[in-house]
Amino acid sequence: MASRKPIRVAVTGAAGNIGYALLFRIASGAMFGPDQPVILQLLEIPVEGPQKALKGVAMELEDCAFPLLTDMVLTGEADVAFKDANWCLLVGSKPRGPGMERADLLKDNGKIFIAQGKSIDAVAADDARVAVVGNPCNTNVMIAAAQARRLPADRFTAMVRLDENRARAQLAQKAGVAIDEVTDLYIYGNHSPTMFADFTHAKVGGKDAASVIGDEAWLKNDFLPAVGKRGAAIIEARGLSSAASAANALVDHVRDLVTPGKVHSVAISSEGRYGFAPGVWAGMPVRTTATGYEVIETYAMDDFAKSKIALTNDELVGERETIKDLLA
Ligand code: NAD
Ligand code: LMR
Repeated sequence: MASRKPIRVAVTGAAGNIGYALLFRIASGAMFGPDQPVILQLLEIPVEGPQKALKGVAMELEDCAFPLLTDMVLTGEADVAFKDANWCLLVGSKPRGPGMERADLLKDNGKIFIAQGKSIDAVAADDARVAVVGNPCNTNVMIAAAQARRLPADRFTAMVRLDENRARAQLAQKAGVAIDEVTDLYIYGNHSPTMFADFTHAKVGGKDAASVIGDEAWLKNDFLPAVGKRGAAIIEARGLSSAASAANALVDHVRDLVTPGKVHSVAISSEGRYGFAPGVWAGMPVRTTATGYEVIETYAMDDFAKSKIALTNDELVGERETIKDLLA
């Protein structure tokens, strides 16, 4: 089974809540497939408590006897964690608490991504790809990518897949159908309440979602805010931000980025597509190819969709303005 060359997967914040729900799934083959061995390169802050907790997580990983887990590196140094990494999963950062918006984390978390972006650019593998989860993830990925002199911007992605999964689940529930019946539903813009979960092109059982649901007011006034504010609802209910569903979404995000033909929502450098400002990272649909992904640019947006995209774009531009000194 382990005849393929292992890939090196760096995970930051590895002793945190998402880390605990994520690492076992990577090691089991859920992210890169049942024939792909992995080496986990795990980064935590260089402080006794988190480093000790990281050791504990590694002990549990050993105790699972995963055939695909060929080695582990535990470290407090970014240059060790990212050394020759093929994938860099940037989870480590502060989560928000009740009553906060994700953008409130910008000042605290933003600077983490300068140092990590620099380190990735300096030591990661030539084919390195980056997925940012730490919030506010669209702007943090922009900060990391600004440090990249060697890796092209399209290698840097941020996660809006949890939002796509939430949106599909909400529509399936409302329509009373299985999740797989909901298709063509993609997330545009920021991972924040302004995101646009594009129900206007979504399908339920192959038919237009809007005609199947038959309630435009529900789609606009209930569905969109429910998806946009789901993270806050989880924090309110659990007292902690989503962890298992976030880890699951990251498994989906990366697995679909290495599976040619998959169409899924990813936050990428907008390059002006769908009216987003060039240089902001915005969610939109991509189709995975043999070597990367191509952006699906063919969805025609109506005036309502355009107004939603303009709103989330304004927020992304505002976040960029807030941290402009971190982009130098
Ligand atoms: P957590 O507090 O449980 O764990 C975060 C871990 O990161 C901690 O162990 C901490 O020590 C570590 N850390 C902090 N700074 C670090 C650094 N510079 N290098 C390495 N490790 C560092 O938090 P969590 O629940 O795992 O959430 C992590 C992040 O993911 C938060 O910012 C949260 O808001 C975000 N998140 C994003 C999504 C999304 O859909 N994009 C979903 C859920 C959570
Ligand atoms: C989520 O969407 O659950 C995460 O981004 C955590 C949060 O702050 O909402």
